[in-house]
Amino acid sequence: MDPYRNPFAPGAGSRPPELAGRDLVLEQARIASGRAIFGRHARSIILLGLRGTGKTVLLNEIEGIGRQAGLLTSKVESPEGKGLAQLLVPEMRRVMRSLSVAESAKDLADRGLRALRSFVSIFKIEVAGFEVEVDGEPGLADSGDLQADLPDLFLTIGQAAKAAGKGWMLLIDEIQYLSEPDLSALIVAVHKVSQAGLPVLFVGAGLPQVARLAGDAKSYAERLFVYPEVGPLDRVSAEKAIRNPIREEGADISDDALAEIVTLTKGYPFFLQEWASILWDSAQGPTITLAETQKAYRGAIASLDEGFFKVRIDRLTKAEVKFVQAMAALGDGPYSMADIAKEMGRQMNSLGPARATIIHKGMIYSPSFGYLDFTVPLFADFIRRRFS
Ligand SMILES: Nc1ncnc2c1ncn2[C@@H]1O[C@H](COP(=O)(O)OP(=O)(O)O)[C@@H](O)[C@H]1O
Ligand SMILES: [Mg+2]
Repeated sequence: MDPYRNPFAPGAGSRPPELAGRDLVLEQARIASGRAIFGRHARSIILLGLRGTGKTVLLNEIEGIGRQAGLLTSKVESPEGKGLAQLLVPEMRRVMRSLSVAESAKDLADRGLRALRSFVSIFKIEVAGFEVEVDGEPGLADSGDLQADLPDLFLTIGQAAKAAGKGWMLLIDEIQYLSEPDLSALIVAVHKVSQAGLPVLFVGAGLPQVARLAGDAKSYAERLFVYPEVGPLDRVSAEKAIRNPIREEGADISDDALAEIVTLTKGYPFFLQEWASILWDSAQGPTITLAETQKAYRGAIASLDEGFFKVRIDRLTKAEVKFVQAMAALGDGPYSMADIAKEMGRQMNSLGPARATIIHKGMIYSPSFGYLDFTVPLFADFIRRRFS
């Protein structure tokens, strides 16, 4: 069918033509945003899920919801190795500046800008031109301890936002890459604004282990956030995700073809989009058949193997590849450390370093004590294909 009209856009973070099966989370975000604006207690949100399930797409969507509700929004992605302070300074500065325009919030926002000035110098953060603009604010965000200073800044933003009749939504993607002290400071800051009843909402997204990391950092994190799980789409949603965009273009897909995709992708969004996209380009139309769908399957797998999966395994060293190969050889996860060690013919305690670096690279995670699993859905299949 006409490739120019192909509605399926595979690609990380790109909005799918049909954002299926996420109504509940979106409604949660809508309610939280509305409550924040009205000065009511609103729980912050941390989206948890494996790679390719649609967390980034949801985060973008939620940012739109926040804006519509009247919140100022800041969205950042936590890169490996960059500190939280550095990540947030430009955003906090932008938000404070924009709040200082409102007459009712000007004094508070200017105080915030001065505090940010102190913060920037004590944490030695490079921000072009900032040094000369304003003086610091003694006693505010200048202790050099992020767990004290970040809350100061969040509180000041919250107060200014409240005075302006607005609010602030901070969105951070890939929060599993935050260091432990950074995550701690973030949680304390969110806790403080929440206790003070200020209109500040945090929305994070990350791999499933984040819930435990947060809980380890601060015991009250459990009650501070809701943790919606962003998983594979259920059957009905997966069907919608494929059929609706096709019908939108005046074409269709047969029931058995649709069922085939839903079954083999197990409802994983990244896989659905890839297959549907390749299928669209190769099918005759106007109604896509089962035979065409099965034929496009190989192309979809090849494309994932060369893209989505490959970029991930390419980040591992040879020794690390051996480790994940042993996991895949055991079937589908989760895998016990004891079984992995046995499969590799090694002592369990000798595997600690490899385990740690592969976790650090975001390739595997520990779903429960003594167990490991892949952070990428269907990854074990890929490894078995690739190394068989
Ligand atoms: N609800 C959904 N329905 C259909 N496709 C989706 C949905 N959510 C995400 N996708 C698609 O899945 C792919 C992965 O989404 P992304 O947000 O990058 O995942 P993550 O951030 O969890 O790794 C993208 O191609 C995206 O368009
Ligand atoms: Mg993402």
